[in-house]
Amino acid sequence: MNHFEVRGGELHCEDTPLSRIAESVGTPVYVYSRATLERHYTVFRDSLVAAGLGDPLIAYAVKANSNVAVLRVLGDLGAGADTVSEGEIRRALAAGIPGERIVFSGVGKTRGEIEFALRAGVSEINVESEPELTLVAEVAGGLGLRAPIVFRVNPDVAAGGHAKIATGKAENKFGVSFDEAARLYANASNHPHLKPLGVACHIGSQITDLAPFEAAFTRMRGLVEALRAEGMTVERLDLGGGLGVPYFDMPDPPGPAEYAAMIGRVMAGLEAIRFAFEPGRVIAANAGVLLASVVHLHERPNGEGGGRRFLVLDAAMNDLIRPAMYDAFHDIRPVIETDAAPVACDVVGPVCETGDTFTRERMLPPLGPGDLVAFMSAGAYGAAMASEYNSRPLVPEVLVDGDRFAVIRRRPTYDEMLAAETMAEWL
Ligand code: LLP
Repeated sequence: MNHFEVRGGELHCEDTPLSRIAESVGTPVYVYSRATLERHYTVFRDSLVAAGLGDPLIAYAVKANSNVAVLRVLGDLGAGADTVSEGEIRRALAAGIPGERIVFSGVGKTRGEIEFALRAGVSEINVESEPELTLVAEVAGGLGLRAPIVFRVNPDVAAGGHAKIATGKAENKFGVSFDEAARLYANASNHPHLKPLGVACHIGSQITDLAPFEAAFTRMRGLVEALRAEGMTVERLDLGGGLGVPYFDMPDPPGPAEYAAMIGRVMAGLEAIRFAFEPGRVIAANAGVLLASVVHLHERPNGEGGGRRFLVLDAAMNDLIRPAMYDAFHDIRPVIETDAAPVACDVVGPVCETGDTFTRERMLPPLGPGDLVAFMSAGAYGAAMASEYNSRPLVPEVLVDGDRFAVIRRRPTYDEMLAAETMAEWL
């Protein structure tokens, strides 16, 4: 459930008509609903607690939507942060999320980033390979402390989603194998600068079927028991993120309650463990839309009574790359409802690439210049993946709370866009 709905013929975010935001901030603009973010977090957490999983650490995956105000909303509810760079750790800290609720993941953490994370007192560093283990030990040694580590294990499970976002197969770059995990865990347990806490997995994103999760989590439980049988202390089990959401015209995937109940079953009887989760999309996707305006309606007849109808928007692939990158479908809704019969349109942006096509032959009511449309489910991996390609200023972000809203990242001016660039003195 989310708080985007039509009232009096106009799409609203909570009690705020989207046209009010467009008038004040301009388009394109991302719009997030605070109440939806809060609801998604709370439902996710309550489902896990109800399934008997104790007091889990819910480390929201910052990469999904890394705006500091969004992090503040979630952090205030008790969320932690799953981070993959020093920049993300800095964002989490800036939002008031304490180090003890921060997880540091990622396959290529640099020496500097590891040092920053340890100084920030992160809850766990998810170690993805043996060379990384050596580096973490070295950095922790330099700082004279014991690094809290969790081994990210690759459970070798194929999980739905698009090939570009599957991570849990042995051929993917993520995590150590089960065999390696046992050996590395034993070594780390005897190391003066390492404190192994447990194991982690993350098998992919936009997973809409519980079976791969269940297969992976069953293997993870087996690993915890095997490590314990060898005398090792395992107190944390991080089950990653990946739960999918409905995007467009899709049957509803399993929700947090079914996901949590399955985990409750798989983990029943496993004692003395704190669970951690790294949800991103399921919290943020349906809490945001990308609001855009129609620039032109370009109809190109083919001389045979047919042809194509292009709806050219002021938003482009640099603002929302998911359709170009993953062939992702986003529902596109006119902000002002009409009863007019829908027509098939290709919805495109102004960037000079054929890939800058959001969708083909989508049935939409007739729209013309200045009309507003909303790309639904754009709160995750939307603004966070935006760029300035084609020298388009980075898209701004707005947070709605009831009938008020705030700009939480403003649109940069053209001068700001150029400010970091300098002329070589020999030019
Ligand atoms: N934990 C780790 C280690 C991850 O790599 C990810 C996502 C998550 C948690 C959060 O997964 P989620 O709950 O959001 O599925 N840009 C793509 C998605 C890439 C996901 C990368 N890792 C997209 O737009 O679909």
